Amino acid sequence: MKIYLGSDHGGFELKEVIEDYLKKEGYNVEDLGTHSEDSVDYPDFGIKVGEVVAKEEDSIGIVFCGTGIGISIAANKVKGVRCALCSDVFSAEMAKKHNKANVIALGGRVTGKDLGKRIVKAFLDEKFEGGRHTRRIDKIMNY
Ligand code: RB5
Repeated sequence: MKIYLGSDHGGFELKEVIEDYLKKEGYNVEDLGTHSEDSVDYPDFGIKVGEVVAKEEDSIGIVFCGTGIGISIAANKVKGVRCALCSDVFSAEMAKKHNKANVIALGGRVTGKDLGKRIVKAFLDEKFEGGRHTRRIDKIMNY
């Protein structure tokens, strides 16, 4: 599984922390930017990550902006993306188990570094439960 990361300037610092963490854990990670704290537009990075994840099987995305809100909205505009904004561990687990999220969003000005790592780990460690949840996801994806 490949993990694509993307952020604007508001999520840059947390993205760097998560990138480090994931590499140390042995994941295959690619950082699609931004690469500094200079001001950029979050839709560019949410859409960039979303497009890659929607095309590449067995890939997931983790996107970051100040709140996680803008970049999650942007990623969700890409057909095939199910992006969940997560600011707690339980939501991250459920995003995988029930919603089969293929992208999660975190807020760099909302979520601390340690909690951010726990959220990411919870999401990666869970499995989609299938069953009735497949029907519900299909309704969204077929819209
Ligand atoms: C940038 O200042 C900020 O608006 C952005 O990072 C994000 O929080 C938008 O939702």
